[in-house]
Amino acid sequence: MTRGIKKRLVIANWKMYIETPKEAKAYARALRRSARAYPGVDVVLAPAFPLIPSVADSLKRATITVGAQTISENEKGAHTGEVSAAMLKAFGVSLVIVGHSERRAAGETNEQIRGQLSRAQDAGIRAVLCVGERERSSSGDYFEVLKEQLVSALSGFPKGAAAKLVIAYEPVWAIGKTAADAMKPSELRETVIFIRKTVAGILGREALSRVAILYGGSVEGENTRALIAQGDVSGFLVGHASGNLGSFMEILKACAK
Ligand code: PGA
Repeated sequence: MTRGIKKRLVIANWKMYIETPKEAKAYARALRRSARAYPGVDVVLAPAFPLIPSVADSLKRATITVGAQTISENEKGAHTGEVSAAMLKAFGVSLVIVGHSERRAAGETNEQIRGQLSRAQDAGIRAVLCVGERERSSSGDYFEVLKEQLVSALSGFPKGAAAKLVIAYEPVWAIGKTAADAMKPSELRETVIFIRKTVAGILGREALSRVAILYGGSVEGENTRALIAQGDVSGFLVGHASGNLGSFMEILKACAK
């Protein structure tokens, strides 16, 4: 487990899997009722924007919190279709995913990602910076890809805000598959060591101890235990398996302490 970070963190990235307020509320309420099944785990549900109020309402005074899947890099004004940090904050959002590979693939740039991190940080919203290589060749050039993503997003990030920073390592080739296609725990461990070294180089060793590092990419009930025990991560960013309450609960139970 990541040094200095005590609780595990598991984020449900609902993408467009959960689509209606009715589904969202039923899921959030059921999860809240089962909290005793996953002690020691901080759980965040990240629904699509229109479902945020329903989820926030269902989680009032619960330990589970609400996240968002992206954020505008702009503060306010003429930005059609964008949602600002202040709006998210007003609806009870405490965490936001930034630079997810599906958004990078849709054209999001490193500069926008840097802006989004700043907006989240200014608003006191915890930011989950996603990094990950598209493919893994034997030459090891994926390390360069990761370094470039980390350096471009985190240069200038204030060291004092490290506790509000989460890094989610999500190799793009492992996303949306099955547990069998996910990264092997030993490969994950090696990559996490590299990410840690790189972040320490940018923010300093002391700040690094406050940054949680998660893994995402075909996390399912089946591979959770091995990934958390051997992968040296603090938790997970879960996609498709979080679209089903039963599957997500399996992951949470496997992370419980
Ligand atoms: P997956 O997605 O769990 O479906 O692989 C993870 C993610 O994209 O965050």
